[in-house]
Amino acid sequence: MSCMNNIIFIGFMGSGKSTVARRLSQCLSIPWVEMDALVYQKTETKNMHEVFAKGGEFLLRTTEIAIAQEYASQKNLIISTGGGVVLNKIILDFFKQAGGKVIFLNATFDTLAKRLEKDEERPLFKKDTNTKKLYEFRWPLYVNYADEILNVDNQSVDDIVKGVLNGL
Ligand code: S3P
Repeated sequence: MSCMNNIIFIGFMGSGKSTVARRLSQCLSIPWVEMDALVYQKTETKNMHEVFAKGGEFLLRTTEIAIAQEYASQKNLIISTGGGVVLNKIILDFFKQAGGKVIFLNATFDTLAKRLEKDEERPLFKKDTNTKKLYEFRWPLYVNYADEILNVDNQSVDDIVKGVLNGL
């Protein structure tokens, strides 16, 4: 595919950002990067628990900002973000100023909670009411930064990818 602006997936933990990004990358034959994986590279860690142990949420967020600045200016890239990037407006500014298209994968909290019931990878997804509060706090931020919103409850990965392709 000829030179294309970046496509950036945002959404809460468990919304399918990485899965959809990977499949879209296969369909369009353009590369995909995952911000969490880049965070591990940059912080020399292997998972999010190690990132938090090393420098707390501060290390995660400052590293995300550095990654966004570095990758926003590249072209032809699909980027799956971590669910918390919307906490730092500058990250979305970097992506948008470079012409990137931001797509919000919107799922209800119930869907996400079911998907992540047994998850042990995510320090910020706890099985208590705080996670729901986090969701409710962030939801308007995702909506605000989105160029496009796709409702992903009960949708297959293929359906979601079709929805993305339709909007391009
Ligand atoms: C986080 C989401 C995670 C990861 C970290 C914090 C968040 O990414 O960056 O555990 O604050 O929502 P995913 O959205 O890919 O799970």
